Amino acid sequence: MERLPGFRDFYPEPLPHVDVWSADARQYIFEKWRATARRYAFREYDGPPLEPLELFTTKSGEEIVGQLYNFADKGGRAIALRPEMTPTLARMVAAHERNYKKPIKWFALPQLFRYERQQKGRLREHFQLNADILGETDPAADAELIALLIDALRAFGLTAEDFVIRLSSRNAWHDFFQRGGGDPAQEYAFYQIVDKLEREAPEQSDQKLSALGFSLAAVNTFVEQGLPTAELQSILDNLAARGLRDFVRVDYRVIRGLAYYTGVVFEAFDRKGEFRALAGGGRYDNLIKLISGGKVTLPALGFGMGDVVLLELLKARGLLPAFDANVDVFVLVEDEALRAPSLKIIQDLRSSGLVVEYPLTPGKSDKQFKRAQELKAAFTARLEGETQVRIRNLKSREEVLVAIGEVAHHTVFKR
Ligand code: HAM
Repeated sequence: MERLPGFRDFYPEPLPHVDVWSADARQYIFEKWRATARRYAFREYDGPPLEPLELFTTKSGEEIVGQLYNFADKGGRAIALRPEMTPTLARMVAAHERNYKKPIKWFALPQLFRYERQQKGRLREHFQLNADILGETDPAADAELIALLIDALRAFGLTAEDFVIRLSSRNAWHDFFQRGGGDPAQEYAFYQIVDKLEREAPEQSDQKLSALGFSLAAVNTFVEQGLPTAELQSILDNLAARGLRDFVRVDYRVIRGLAYYTGVVFEAFDRKGEFRALAGGGRYDNLIKLISGGKVTLPALGFGMGDVVLLELLKARGLLPAFDANVDVFVLVEDEALRAPSLKIIQDLRSSGLVVEYPLTPGKSDKQFKRAQELKAAFTARLEGETQVRIRNLKSREEVLVAIGEVAHHTVFKR
């Protein structure tokens, strides 16, 4: 039996095959994401991986709807695996926003599902760090969110030489579209053409733009000028005050594919342009109103950072640490008569927070020691008689004899 295309098996390291993913690296990424979001005082939430199909069909836009995993459940409900978190968040916030002080700053680490054509950086399942701020229209919120995005990448050792946030605004494009006399009914179609500028042949883009009364030349000039709107300037100044100015640049080629964005939008890319987007987000000031059927109006903005492209970049830059079992102590049970008191020591050591391994069944001493080495244990511990434990530092080879009652909290383990 093989796994479905575009899905991943996560194994503990060392990895048995090139075609599998590291459960350790995944955990590493989650820990950094969580810790960074917490440092910005974001709170964690989660929602169901299955949602009513309708939650996505009207709100997310064509591209994502074309990629939905959807089916009828046994009760005949039309449902979908979540392809993104934002509609779920909007639904959750709309239901209980009164219980929370504004601005709401929340994050989640959802697994998402999109029936995409499998390619580099694109799978049918991925994890995202989602961070959103709700209830604040001031660009200070945009800057706060972008600072978090920058730090969520810096947490892995990436620098301004490795990645850049391309900052843009649908408001800037809205003004451009209005000035050019565009038909309001076709504004989103126009955005979609801009969104594909970098992926489509210029003649094709030009043709599509002319159908809406615009020219590629005019669009290109607007992009090249790249004059920040007042709102973008305020975000840039805010980030500069934090010493983060080098991580951002105004780039109007970014407009985002999703339908619900209303203002500032941005994407994070590796500087060399070798990989797909690391993250993307923006303002969606109307989505909560739309999802709550007009009951709740709340400005909002957020981003999603995927684990797939991030991992590719970290690998390419050699920024992933070596992962092992992280065993602190391997308890040797060389004398089976001492197994019972050894088990007591093992439990005490574990209760004190150490990672402890030992042989479950009788085994030769040299094999036990070899196992301790394979596991890269920091120490071995072995009962000597009824009252003392010999602790050995496997790196320095230093040994100490410790009274049984003092083992669990002994300073020798303070690394
Ligand atoms: P998105 O641009 O569709 O935005 O996805 C965000 C990031 O998730 C992408 O930049 C990419 O790293 C990763 N990603 C997306 N699709 C895949 C895939 N098929 N395989 C691997 N990685 C993928 C959103 O999802 C918005 N809901 C983000 C957001 C939150 N906006 C506001 N709040």
